[in-house]
Amino acid sequence: MDIFTLSSLVIITISCILLWKKKSSSGFNLPPGPPSLPIIGNLHQINGKPLHHTIINMSQKYGPIILLHFGSQPFVVISSSKLATQALQTHDSALGNRPYSRNTKRVTFDYNDIVFSPYDDHYKHMRETLVDFLNSRTTKSLQKVLNSEVTRLIDSLPFDNEVHIDKVISNFILDYVCKIVAGKSYRDVTLGGKKLKEMLDDMLIFFSGSFSEIFPSYGWILEDLSGWTRRLDKHIASYDALIEMMIDEHIDHANVDEKDLIDVCKSSLTRKEMKAIMTNVFNGAVETSYLALVWVMAMLVKNPRVMHKLQAEIRSHSGKKSTLDETDTAKMTYLKNVIKETLRLHGPAPFLISRHCVEHIQIGGYDILPGTNVLICSREIAKDPMVWTENVNEFYPERFENRVVDQFDMTPFGGGRRSCPGFNLATSILEVVVANLFNNIDWKAPNGMRNEDLDVEENEEGSLLVAKKTPLYLVPVKHNSQA
Ligand code: HEM
Repeated sequence: MDIFTLSSLVIITISCILLWKKKSSSGFNLPPGPPSLPIIGNLHQINGKPLHHTIINMSQKYGPIILLHFGSQPFVVISSSKLATQALQTHDSALGNRPYSRNTKRVTFDYNDIVFSPYDDHYKHMRETLVDFLNSRTTKSLQKVLNSEVTRLIDSLPFDNEVHIDKVISNFILDYVCKIVAGKSYRDVTLGGKKLKEMLDDMLIFFSGSFSEIFPSYGWILEDLSGWTRRLDKHIASYDALIEMMIDEHIDHANVDEKDLIDVCKSSLTRKEMKAIMTNVFNGAVETSYLALVWVMAMLVKNPRVMHKLQAEIRSHSGKKSTLDETDTAKMTYLKNVIKETLRLHGPAPFLISRHCVEHIQIGGYDILPGTNVLICSREIAKDPMVWTENVNEFYPERFENRVVDQFDMTPFGGGRRSCPGFNLATSILEVVVANLFNNIDWKAPNGMRNEDLDVEENEEGSLLVAKKTPLYLVPVKHNSQA
């Protein structure tokens, strides 16, 4: 490290200490929280553990609103339904932005995207374009693609043999999302030594926090020195080449009847905007939907009572149809409750994507100052004892019967103006796939294991999205309707 870098670090360190002392002695009624250290804040308390586990422990001690510092950045973490309502409804406008970071800027094509873009007219136009694509003009063709992919999925199952469910479902989702984005699957295309799925996995790592996010003024130096920036450059180059290829392949052909996302966007968005929106759909839809599907399957097989009750409902509606679609699942209320209950207990995103506060507001009587980042702990809200009174940790879909679920009682898709625009598509994928996988198929745990003994522990690694700790293997058996 040269003398310039070293002296910059010393000056920045001293400024941080002074700033930290000044803030802690301010006259505001800040939320409670564990004491933080100069420079690193509370990083030492979360290092190496999944953030939502740490938050659960902290909120038991300090309550449902906590102030933490990740490096120099203040974060308020909210973990009750009542306070989430204040944040996402009362103060939705003050919290309508996401935190800024130089890495996010790069992977979102200069904030031309939806997920991280500032809340402005450009954002509204981009979000409207996606919602329009997902919900109105092309809904029918999206369903058609889903039905044909589901048929392919079922035809590919090796009955009476062990199936690596994670792999099968992940491939299925990637193929489906590629088709709605670009009209065909790009799963096996390799660029820069990586395939699309690996590129998307890498991108999650770049989103999972970096030095420049928690130390905005000098974190970039550490990123450059540690090789992080070089890795990011390499990643962006291969990913960019792949989505450029997808767009180029559309230049000379236009799908008239079954328009994919590129067809719909190519006349109204710039190239950068197109790449940004495609990235949002790949990142927003692939890993989340895949994880949610694996969790539903695991929870059903682990709970035979629920699985048999669901199969009875599906089979009573299926008649002689070989592939069930949305018109069939619309009538299946228990199926909808099974999916809600899985998302309540194992929603793939334990936290909503951070919000950045731009005004002085109050939540739960505490001051939230401009510049604070607000994290909503969706996982804890879904178990809030003020809302969910009975056996909160039990997988019990019946809890949704005769119950009106308020939008902030559980928030697997977020809430307010930045809530997930893919909610309808995601729900339809989950319902249609589960209905088909449990209609003519019975599922067993492998190697003679009792279904009830299936492991449903959560992975301890990763805070953005939470997978099962161990891979899911199951044996599909053709259901004999005469039995
Ligand atoms: C089971 C599947 C899914 C889950 C659990 C999920 C969850 C979420 C969550 C928690 C957020 C953050 C919301 C907030 O900050 O309040 C979000 C945002 C977003 N999701 Fe999803 N999502 C899913 C599927 C999808 C799909 C299928 C798409 C696109 C086709 C999508 C696109 C997006 C986008 C673009 C945003 C950013 C919205 C904004 O900032 O305005 N998601 N999602």
